[in-house]
Amino acid sequence: MMQKTRLYEQVIEKLKPLVSDEDDLLCNCANAAALLYRMLPSINWVGVYFLRHGVLYLGPFQGKPACTRIPLGRGICGRAAEQRQAIVVEDVNSFPGHIVCDAGSRSELVVPLVCNSQLWGVLDVDSPEPNRFDEADRHGLQGVAALLCSASRLHGDPLVIPE
Ligand code: SME
Repeated sequence: MMQKTRLYEQVIEKLKPLVSDEDDLLCNCANAAALLYRMLPSINWVGVYFLRHGVLYLGPFQGKPACTRIPLGRGICGRAAEQRQAIVVEDVNSFPGHIVCDAGSRSELVVPLVCNSQLWGVLDVDSPEPNRFDEADRHGLQGVAALLCSASRLHGDPLVIPE
């Protein structure tokens, strides 16, 4: 199996040209979700939730239709957003308050999108396998989040209103 660090390097190599000529956050997150869904093995959902008035709203994603609104502090996404820290969950069924969008998800990784000290939302990846994500995934996805932040702007679109 390919080393995870190398895999995430390849994700970044492919994402860079996609975002280099586009600085719209929504477009860049849409392409990042598509790229991650194609490149990461053993995942069943990947996408973004954007923060708007204390609630995370479903943004671009790949996978089955998902929950649309998650209040800050709720579920794994809301917790990661509130704490502004990545959360790796080995078994979603043992995470208190986990929000079930797809009953097939067994493990999850959520990375906050903190850009210039502002919380814009979260990047969320689900897997049907328990214990799918580790520190290498956390580090790799944080690299993706950092690239999305550095490459993107809001363009005055009310999609995201920083808190
Ligand atoms: N399980 C997440 C909800 C989002 S979905 O997995 C797409 C949570 O507990 O926040």
